[in-house]
Amino acid sequence: MEQIKILLNESDIPRQWYNLAADLPTPLLPPLGPDGKPVSPDMLAPVFPMNLIEQEVSQQRWIDIPEEILNILYRWRPAPLRRARYLEKYLDTPARIYYKDESTSPPGSHKPNTAVAQAWYNKQFGIKKLTTETGAGQWGSALAFACQIIGLECKVFMVRISFDQKPFRKMMMQTWGANCVASPSPETNAGRKILKDMPNTPGSLGIAISEAIEQAVTDPKGQTRYSLGSVLNHVLLHQTIIGLEAKKQLKMINEKPDIVIGCAGGGSNFAGLSFPFVADKINGDDIKIVPVEPTACPTMTRAPFVYDFGDTACTTPLLAMHSLGHSFVPPPIHAGGLRYHGMAPLVCQAIVEGLLEPRAYHQLKSYEAAITWARTEGFIPAPETSQAIAAVIDEAQKAKQERKEKVILFCYSGHGLMDLTGYDAYLSGKLTDYELPQEEMNKYLKELKNYPKAEARKTGKW
Ligand SMILES: Cc1ncc(COP(=O)(O)O)c(C=O)c1O
Repeated sequence: MEQIKILLNESDIPRQWYNLAADLPTPLLPPLGPDGKPVSPDMLAPVFPMNLIEQEVSQQRWIDIPEEILNILYRWRPAPLRRARYLEKYLDTPARIYYKDESTSPPGSHKPNTAVAQAWYNKQFGIKKLTTETGAGQWGSALAFACQIIGLECKVFMVRISFDQKPFRKMMMQTWGANCVASPSPETNAGRKILKDMPNTPGSLGIAISEAIEQAVTDPKGQTRYSLGSVLNHVLLHQTIIGLEAKKQLKMINEKPDIVIGCAGGGSNFAGLSFPFVADKINGDDIKIVPVEPTACPTMTRAPFVYDFGDTACTTPLLAMHSLGHSFVPPPIHAGGLRYHGMAPLVCQAIVEGLLEPRAYHQLKSYEAAITWARTEGFIPAPETSQAIAAVIDEAQKAKQERKEKVILFCYSGHGLMDLTGYDAYLSGKLTDYELPQEEMNKYLKELKNYPKAEARKTGKW
């Protein structure tokens, strides 16, 4: 019998997070304030607690995971590393496919790895309530779960299209005690303005972020902070537990990956799995590392590297990243969590440096991959995860053509049991492909022309 589940004991859980910022060959460009000058940590203090701001700007390679956080993560961690033996057989490939199964957490994705950490640090800092945005609803439900376990109030602004398409996620948030509203909402200045200008907008992550930040910074008691589920350095840091566990698990069976794959919306599950392997690549290992995105929101594969805001109302600092423009409203594809206009600055700097090979897929191809997966492996993936599976299938087929025994590792970022409306649309032939037209992209990018330029610095080694 071949081993298809590689499990770690609780005592083997990683006790430190890995910070790629310490090892990037070219440093990140600093976030800039409205005056074009680098923002100082105190300027972020109304939005985030200082203990998380310290992690955000840290250059320390390893950061200890507090015992109290590990005690909560044990509910589902260490997560299994599984071998996709049935997909391999179906594809008749010599590739060995492993996946880190992040769908086993209570909300069903990788998101609670940082939600628990963020709620814990906020609580330590004396904060009583967190506000946030959510696209697919995975992040909102993860934060609702974490706030309930840790004892904080939670308010979630959910992108309208997902609020309508995914009522069950909203119910999960309510079950964990959170208050969830559709964004744009009439509750904030940002929301009211957008509703007036575009009453039928499907919403976007950029708009929902603006609303959540506004509500946090205007709390008269100063006891509310904002929490982001992706993009920022500290979020990616908390997710590295995924890759650090996977590394230990692969070592147990004497395997090393040739190819590492993850879907990327804001970059957190991809970074979480891949950054410990990016470190190996920086140190000379030959690994292909592939973040995957939808053609409808082609941030990494088509958008320029620029300074842009993280939200639509321009309340965040300017971040150096690949961006489609902060007012970009993505088409309503079903991979709701991949509809963000920007990408994590750490992921973008690794792209600029040539360490990553981003790729985009159409939604029909990723649903086809999801169906193949569900009919071979049995599990039903989240629409975001399906993008990664499409790339895995392509790489496994290539290995077959080249007759090479490649080892493929990917992040199974979440299950799709709350996303069946997308499957229904695909199976009944109602789903279509969409590729962002260049003219439309230019329209949004034009707004950035007066911002400071982001210099794409690289060593040229990769
Ligand atoms: C299951 C799943 N995978 C991936 C993502 C994309 O986010 P990120 O790029 O931060 O991992 C999301 C976002 O909501 C998600 O729910």
